[in-house]
Amino acid sequence: MAIDRSVSDLYRYLRQQRERYGDTLYVDEEVIRETELAAQGLTEENGEVTEAWKTARTLEHLYDLIHDCRKCPLAETRTKFVFGVGDPQADIVLIGEAPGADEDRQGEPFVGRAGQLLTKILEAVDLSREDVFICNILKCRPPNNRDPLPGEVEQCEPYLHKQLELLKPRIMLALGRIAAQTLLRTNDSLTKLRAGVHAYQGIPLVVTYHPAALLRNPNWKRPTWEDVQKFRRMYDELRNADLP
Ligand code: URA
Ligand code: URA
Repeated sequence: MAIDRSVSDLYRYLRQQRERYGDTLYVDEEVIRETELAAQGLTEENGEVTEAWKTARTLEHLYDLIHDCRKCPLAETRTKFVFGVGDPQADIVLIGEAPGADEDRQGEPFVGRAGQLLTKILEAVDLSREDVFICNILKCRPPNNRDPLPGEVEQCEPYLHKQLELLKPRIMLALGRIAAQTLLRTNDSLTKLRAGVHAYQGIPLVVTYHPAALLRNPNWKRPTWEDVQKFRRMYDELRNADLP
């Protein structure tokens, strides 16, 4: 983590200074500035001060820098920050709305009943949870699973953008009406959204039912199966297009 590194750099520097000059302290302005910035979660890159997480180079580093996030009131009520899980090299990203009670407790997306169904849906098209990356638009659970508020989306969606910048997936699947409408900034019906192929952050995006909706209405299982078949075919076509 940036702050740990800066603080240990500072100690090393202070020891060297003491060896050279005794107890009179000459501290480089630059070191003081970097340490002060790091303490505020900031860093300087190309002469510009930015939030340190924006400069993360790996998902792990990004997790370190954002999992204590307190930008919105959901920080007060969450148990765990639910970053996302899966292969950091995944070609496929699945995206839901927000953590529910089980996810909030365990810190992992889609681990409750809906999540178990999602695992089966993936298996139906020869994919496992380990093959893909799974996350949500919001990283923290809204109380009583209410829909995300616009302010929460505004604060949290940049983390998703950064995750996608690091993952560089070829294709995404949005799970459910709320996730799709929120990502695509539309009020179009789920039926309409399922019929098309969209783009999010320049990445092809397919929409299907939320697995929790299938638990309530099993009639939606058949169309979901068709959606994920379409999704799988699109993914295979994208991959084949790369072959020499
Ligand atoms: N529903 C979601 O949208 N995401 C989860 O992680 C779990 C349930
Ligand atoms: N309502 C939702 O919010 N999502 C679905 O997938 C279906 C109905």
